[in-house]
Amino acid sequence: MPELSRRLLPLLGHSGGSRDAMTCLYRCGNACDHPVPNESDNAYLGDVVNASMSRRGVMRAGAAGALVLGLSGASAAAAVPASAAVPSAPLGGAPQTGGGKAGKLSFKAIPPNTLDTFVVPNGYDSSVVIRWGDPVVPGAPEFDLGRQTAKRQSQQFGYNNDFVGVLPFEDNRALLVVNHEYTNENLMFPGFTTLDALTVEQIKVAMAAHGLSVVEIERVGRTGEWRPAQGRRLRYNKRITALETVFKLTGPVVGTAAVKTAADPKGQWVIGTLNNCAGGVTPWGTVLSGEENFNQYFVGGDAVAEADKPKLARYGISTTARYPSDSRKWDRAQERFDLAKHPNEANRFGWIVEVDPFDPEAPPRKHTAMGRFKHEGANVIVAKSGHVVAYMGDDERFDYLYKFVSDKKIMKGNSPAARKHNLSILESGTLYVAQVTGDSPAAEIDGTGKLPADGAFDGTGKWIKLVSGTRSFVPGMTAADVLTWTRQAGDAVKATKMDRPEDVQPSLLTGKIYAAMTNNTNRAVGTNPGVDEANPRSANKHGHIFEITEDKGDHTGESFTWTLPIVCGDPAAADTYFGGYDKTAVSPISCPDNVAFDSAGNLWISTDGNALGTNDGLFATPIEGSERGHLRQFLTVPRGAETCGPFITSDDKSVFVAVQHPGEITGASVEKPASTWPDGDYAKPAVVVTWRLDGRPVGS
Ligand code: FEO
Ligand code: CA
Ligand code: CA
Repeated sequence: MPELSRRLLPLLGHSGGSRDAMTCLYRCGNACDHPVPNESDNAYLGDVVNASMSRRGVMRAGAAGALVLGLSGASAAAAVPASAAVPSAPLGGAPQTGGGKAGKLSFKAIPPNTLDTFVVPNGYDSSVVIRWGDPVVPGAPEFDLGRQTAKRQSQQFGYNNDFVGVLPFEDNRALLVVNHEYTNENLMFPGFTTLDALTVEQIKVAMAAHGLSVVEIERVGRTGEWRPAQGRRLRYNKRITALETVFKLTGPVVGTAAVKTAADPKGQWVIGTLNNCAGGVTPWGTVLSGEENFNQYFVGGDAVAEADKPKLARYGISTTARYPSDSRKWDRAQERFDLAKHPNEANRFGWIVEVDPFDPEAPPRKHTAMGRFKHEGANVIVAKSGHVVAYMGDDERFDYLYKFVSDKKIMKGNSPAARKHNLSILESGTLYVAQVTGDSPAAEIDGTGKLPADGAFDGTGKWIKLVSGTRSFVPGMTAADVLTWTRQAGDAVKATKMDRPEDVQPSLLTGKIYAAMTNNTNRAVGTNPGVDEANPRSANKHGHIFEITEDKGDHTGESFTWTLPIVCGDPAAADTYFGGYDKTAVSPISCPDNVAFDSAGNLWISTDGNALGTNDGLFATPIEGSERGHLRQFLTVPRGAETCGPFITSDDKSVFVAVQHPGEITGASVEKPASTWPDGDYAKPAVVVTWRLDGRPVGS
């Protein structure tokens, strides 16, 4: 295994900060190399308002020798009491708001490292639950790298796993639902040379490796370990793919001209889902999945009507070249990806997808009422009124934060009637975009990350109504226009340009909402927008966490306060902030991506693209009380990978993460892997579960 280093490998001319060039190409079509799609002149309202406002206003675990290497094969040492299944997400219940326990975490932080393995703290173990190519659908063939076909891949676990949801349904049994965001053909096909040289069958393999997997899993003994269910009929196992799965469109955009195509003249059904990144689990037992960087799959944007070009360009689709340099050229396998022939096909992607894993026959749905953008994901909370509120980020430099409030109220209980009702709840509602304002003078936000005189990056915010049901609140746009070209609607109402909003998740304990602003190296660079109090660092390499508190705890309301509890980076650097906690006792963290909570309300943060030069990982911190900001690193993933998921089961016994794109380092291939994780041969994305050897809850 050659020692490959990111720093020693040739760059491909990308400017994606710390991310490997190969990741930039395959993940998001070199988004960072393209002009910022948001060219709107809605200036930083924060600055404008600030200027007019008055003044009111590591534990670095010692040596690598102290590590438990997760796949070393150690088994659970102690028997633990059987848990009565992983408790379900609260069904139909209002959130327990107003609590705010301090939470406790007692694991010893692991040190940053560059090891090609999965590292957990002493006293913990981990195992691979499922990896790329493992059988999913009953009767699926075993993976055979040299004999892969689209048909085989359509029955096997897909590539690059991102979102992870675990939905219990019986004692010690659950459904694992996973997103497969994208493929890396360099690392999937032996003998790979160029995307142009792929056969049509290989392109279809890649299409079948996108989408989602539903996998029945079972607890191993009485431990926190889980594995695919064995020795029983698998009722729910399923693959959803970009290749052939049929989705139902719901909501106000159904049947409008923008989504009609030759194959779907009524604008009701879509084949496939693209670039499913993060997501969430609903209280009624479904999964939400965000269609993110869908732009890179389309060609022929140069040939659409001139009037339509700005609509494509705002979503990052090239309107000047038939084949952008980063194109996947899927039009070679399916003509619908050629916008010159099917100009509306791109409008059928960029939605929130809802999958009911407990009804394998039900078509997954794309909810147009929740807007169309590069959806990172969606996470819901039930408001005191009973309305369901989804919080969502549009992951692009200088794009926006959104929330959706359902028209219907949740029906409590788990009866068939309640489930049927709740399954329709995201099909109609009100969509808002966030506009945030700092409370400190603009002169005190100098781009260095230095806290303003009031001691916090904080302020107030408004949820600006874009559309409610079929009524538009954006001049010149119909409701369907707003929902189809939601970015342009956000531009029109002067939403606040954020530093790449990734995962957004409410804490069910406190009702506060946490959003990961992963980074934005273009902030205040050149002619790009400058800093504001919510995005306070120039050339923001390491990102920050944005905390929202809805006024009066009302998730259906239109005003909130906000603060930045964590400004990421090296704690030794002056531009970082960890809730005011002693910075000598926290772990370095860079590029927060996904957020999650354990049952005590501790905030867990996974990273993607660690700009500090070490592997990505998973971190946890109490977010209330005196321990707020005491952030510690819980695990690291192998070389070249990002950490996704995460999902902590509600008994706190198991932490699931997705190891996405291990070995994705420029120059790597199947034959010359940059990572040999997890099996010692070539790199395979996989879902991993971590548990505590003494059987106690993880982290506490
Ligand atoms: Fe797919 Fe925004 O990460
Ligand atoms: Ca302030
Ligand atoms: Ca992400």
